[in-house]
Amino acid sequence: MLTPNMHYADLKDSYLFAGIAQKVKHYQQSHPDQHIYRMGIGDVSLPLCDAVIKALHEGVEDQADKERFHGYMPECGADFLRQAIAGYYRGRGVALAPDEVFVSSGASDELGDILDLFDGSSSALVIEPAYPAYVDANVIAGREIVHLASGEENGFLPLPDEHTVADILYICSPNNPTGAVFDREKLQAWVDFANKNGSVILFDAAYEAFIEESDLPRSIFELEGARTCAIEICSLSKTAGFTGTRLGYTVIPKELTRCGMNLNAMWVRNRTTKTNGVSYIIQKGAAAVFTHAGQEQIRQNIKVYKNNAKVLMAALDEVGIWYTGGKNAPYIWMKCPDGMGSWQFFDYLLNEIQVVGTPGEGFGACGEGYFRFSTFGSPADTREAARRLTDLLRGK
Ligand code: MLT
Repeated sequence: MLTPNMHYADLKDSYLFAGIAQKVKHYQQSHPDQHIYRMGIGDVSLPLCDAVIKALHEGVEDQADKERFHGYMPECGADFLRQAIAGYYRGRGVALAPDEVFVSSGASDELGDILDLFDGSSSALVIEPAYPAYVDANVIAGREIVHLASGEENGFLPLPDEHTVADILYICSPNNPTGAVFDREKLQAWVDFANKNGSVILFDAAYEAFIEESDLPRSIFELEGARTCAIEICSLSKTAGFTGTRLGYTVIPKELTRCGMNLNAMWVRNRTTKTNGVSYIIQKGAAAVFTHAGQEQIRQNIKVYKNNAKVLMAALDEVGIWYTGGKNAPYIWMKCPDGMGSWQFFDYLLNEIQVVGTPGEGFGACGEGYFRFSTFGSPADTREAARRLTDLLRGK
């Protein structure tokens, strides 16, 4: 009889955000008249910007034209988009060749798929609290996971020490869920560690566009030595509202080799076998993000989310609750009041004020006692949620 992948039995019953969606659905069914203020999953609320919409329409017209029609797309990405992304990095002082950029259908897909590059016996270090897909993808692959806990004592930005041993290192900065950002010196410590130990960093840069302090690194390739130890995975989901449109990109430098194997060449081999590329229309829309107009327009949308963050931070300041994030990231990570557990706080907010966030425990054991708010909701909902939160927590 066929044996299924038994590692699925080691996963939690449901994926964090699916479990929350289920709980919220049940609440809504039993309270059909109540409006729910959704600040749980980091899903955007603003539509795609005009430059992208125009390019998507042009893409559709191209597909209707005998001369301009596109069939299969290049597996690693259309040249025009790889060039545009390399140009975006160049504008930030990072030199990349277009064929070091791989177009994907999103960072979350890619974070799991990229594990094809590594032997099953390699271990994966996850800095917790962590985006749960890192852990789940490695559980499914049956890989040994090294959980590196972080906390308030290190600003949720731990560093490797003499006891750290791992082959694959997940680093997310700006961090999901804590909103903490590695500065140059700390990120350099991870790069130096990876080069010294032959590890590979999987750098999740999905929130880079939210960094407003110019001395903080937005790409790991701003650091010396990163080209020999890092892969960067990025996405247009949060930057440009592509959560439902789907497009991401991955940077694998040509210098990145292990055991005589070139990881860029291996990924070309992988993609040419496993994909037929991302849809032409979507790539056409994505390229518009990197134009002058596209950049201006997405910045306006990011400003709206940053204002939401300010509204929520002001509410937490008013009631004297400790939090981090919100400034260079679209997440606010707060301490639950009165020593409440994070799921207990989740139920409390949902039942009392119909506000949904994400319990910190869902991001790993050290997230217990904390709670995450996403700032991607509508401004009106965010203002009302902040008002309800202040009223509820005043005096706690
Ligand atoms: C989150 O809420 O952590 C993210 O939206 C999840 C994701 O990007 O898949």
